[in-house]
Amino acid sequence: MSAVLTELRAAWHPVAAGTDLPPRHAFQGELLGRELVAWRADDGFVNVWENRCLHRGVRLSIGTNDGTELVCRYHGWRYASRSAGCTYIPAHPADAPARTICNRTFPAVERYGLVWTGEDPVGEVPDVAVLEGGHTDLRHLPFDAPADLVMAELGSLRFAPVGSPSGEPVGVDVVEIGPLTVALTASDGSAESSVVVFVQPVDAAHCVVRPVLAGVVDAADLRAVRRHHATALETLRTSVEEIARTLPGPEPYEVLLERAPVHVADPAPPVAGRTAPLRVRVARKWRTSAEVMAFDLESIGDPLPTHQPGAHIDVHLPNGLVRQYSLTNGPGDTASYVIGVKREPESRGGSVALHDTVREGDVLAISEPRNNFVLRRDSPRTVLIAGGIGLTPLLAMARALHRMGAGFELHIFARSDEHLPFADVLETLGSSVHTHLGLDPAATGVTLGELLAEPASTDQVYVCGPGPMLDAARSLAAAAGWADEAVHFEYFANTTEIDVSSTFEVSLARSALTVTVPAGSTILEVMRENGVAVPSSCEQGACGTCSVAVIEGQPDHQDVYLSESERARGDRMMVCVSRARGDRLVLDV
Ligand code: FES
Repeated sequence: MSAVLTELRAAWHPVAAGTDLPPRHAFQGELLGRELVAWRADDGFVNVWENRCLHRGVRLSIGTNDGTELVCRYHGWRYASRSAGCTYIPAHPADAPARTICNRTFPAVERYGLVWTGEDPVGEVPDVAVLEGGHTDLRHLPFDAPADLVMAELGSLRFAPVGSPSGEPVGVDVVEIGPLTVALTASDGSAESSVVVFVQPVDAAHCVVRPVLAGVVDAADLRAVRRHHATALETLRTSVEEIARTLPGPEPYEVLLERAPVHVADPAPPVAGRTAPLRVRVARKWRTSAEVMAFDLESIGDPLPTHQPGAHIDVHLPNGLVRQYSLTNGPGDTASYVIGVKREPESRGGSVALHDTVREGDVLAISEPRNNFVLRRDSPRTVLIAGGIGLTPLLAMARALHRMGAGFELHIFARSDEHLPFADVLETLGSSVHTHLGLDPAATGVTLGELLAEPASTDQVYVCGPGPMLDAARSLAAAAGWADEAVHFEYFANTTEIDVSSTFEVSLARSALTVTVPAGSTILEVMRENGVAVPSSCEQGACGTCSVAVIEGQPDHQDVYLSESERARGDRMMVCVSRARGDRLVLDV
């Protein structure tokens, strides 16, 4: 690689005007021969990424910016703002995409009305003193000429200073203030003005000239000033392009493209055990209903991993307990995770610690987000049913569906208005939200029956809430004719009494190990003791994280995660609670 190219790759360059990135738009740019897509999320964050979908390489700039995700036009892969992590693959609607599916991102900064980025920029976007007192955007122009030729010819630009009595273009003084930046000052004795010209090297043979006028021009004069400068720049362009045509074509820049992983749609490699690799600070703690405190957990350092609607994290509490909480915010929110924690009177110390002990500013250890409650986004009608704090994963789902303009209903069962968490967020979801307040168990059952009646074959339903409500919804859905795979549940906890009285043998096929699981121990514990770890989270059969494939033998399912048909198939089991019906199991571990 040439020294010049190395230097250009280490520099910041403008690649768009800030006005090129209006809301819900994707902009195609190019820098040093590399195609970029730039887009602004609804929270104002500017993303600059490699302009290709990791699936089939299609340009993401022809995709859709939905405010927090950029959606590929071809097969609908979705990528989250900030991290560019893939959040959804329509061909695998029931699976959470692997975290390794992540597009290449570039740093982005907005300054002087321009969007700046670089391949590997060092330091900050350069200060330009003459623009610090205010500036006026001028028209940008692409040139069919190399950047260094344009730089050499910029001194022949002629323009009239703002406020010049004659309005006649005059020659300029040139001060080079960076490798691809010059300040041009025009003076006619009575007026003087400066234009800073930034030259964006599109590729070896093309560039974009991005001039910015120092000072703020009166609104009444703005149009005339812009037109004057555009005419001057067009004149320069004509002469520079004529010169470029007489010169031999430059060597093209070598573009280093990273290869996408071949098996990008494979599930993420499991991380064994309960891990807490992330540290977050409690940026805000607030009461969001009579019994629920919300926590905004901001990243310390790097952005947090992308998550999908329905994902949860393990929170490792100062008292040593580990608890699972669903993320309520959107996939593009990698600056912080927002969770809601209900104070449980019967708490063994988890929710009480968060309510009473954890304060704003405290640092907590958390796991990476896991998603065993995956939202399909291909249904014309999605029914979300929440009981109390069961709203949290469904809130993230509702927000995603709302942004997509997908058809959904969010039904929330709560004791009263005061017990309705995140009411401010619910308000933003409009008429899709339905509250059912103060119903006793019998009335709840009747309402659930009505909500689940007469499903269309394409409907999907997601239910999260207390165990009895979920059990009721499960049987009502089955009675109403819902297909098992269209009904999705997330239990807070497994309240069934676990029978740990059996003793049996487990062969771990891939580990070439056979172990005995004695009464009183779980398969997960025995595997851990023998140095074989599988991922786990709740460790009570509720979250689905410790699911392993069964090769031989009949599981004694004691979890609440698997559906009836999944249990009947007997090809998966939750090793944190489930056991063997017979003497032996063979697991794919
Ligand atoms: S760890 Fe949650 S189901 Fe086993």
